[in-house]
Amino acid sequence: MRDVMTKSMARNIFYGGSLFFIIIFLGLSLHSHRYIVTTSTNAETLTESVAHGKRLWEKHACINCHTIMGEGAYFAPELANVTTRWGVADDPDGAFEMLDGWMKAQPSGVEGRRQMPRFDLNPEETRALADFLRWVDSIDAQGWPPNDAG
Ligand code: HEC
Repeated sequence: MRDVMTKSMARNIFYGGSLFFIIIFLGLSLHSHRYIVTTSTNAETLTESVAHGKRLWEKHACINCHTIMGEGAYFAPELANVTTRWGVADDPDGAFEMLDGWMKAQPSGVEGRRQMPRFDLNPEETRALADFLRWVDSIDAQGWPPNDAG
């Protein structure tokens, strides 16, 4: 065996190694993509109302105070599991009524509590947001958040 590595040996190791890891990278990317689309997202339950709720969520910038699955601001409660917390994850009408009551009671004015602003939503918008929050709650987030309090 020779002691010195020739230029062509070095080149082959470089290209061969790069190709090997690029293939692994592409394979893992494909796997992640398929996993998200087929396993952790409930695409079949994505209704028009859920999509509308997501747009309202963005329009009113709820994420400026809240988090969803840890993403967002840490001023107000995590909302990815709020329908579980309220016990209405499988109850569309219950979720609507809870959210409607909540939205109409804001700001609470309770001393020492952080205040949520008032959003004047119509019933259709409140239902869309409730459907969106229930849908988010149905995503397999692998146990996140770690407890019901968020
Ligand atoms: C300016 C900050 C702010 C914005 C923007 C905001 N919230 Fe809140 N929200 C709060 C605070 C603070 C609380 C907790 C209030 C309390 O516990 O008294 C809260 C609580 C909630 C709760 C109850 C959570 C629970 O665990 O019971 C829901 C549901 C909610 N917000 C939904 C929304 C939605 C939907 C939007 C957008 C339309 C929104 N919030 C925008 C500050 C905000």
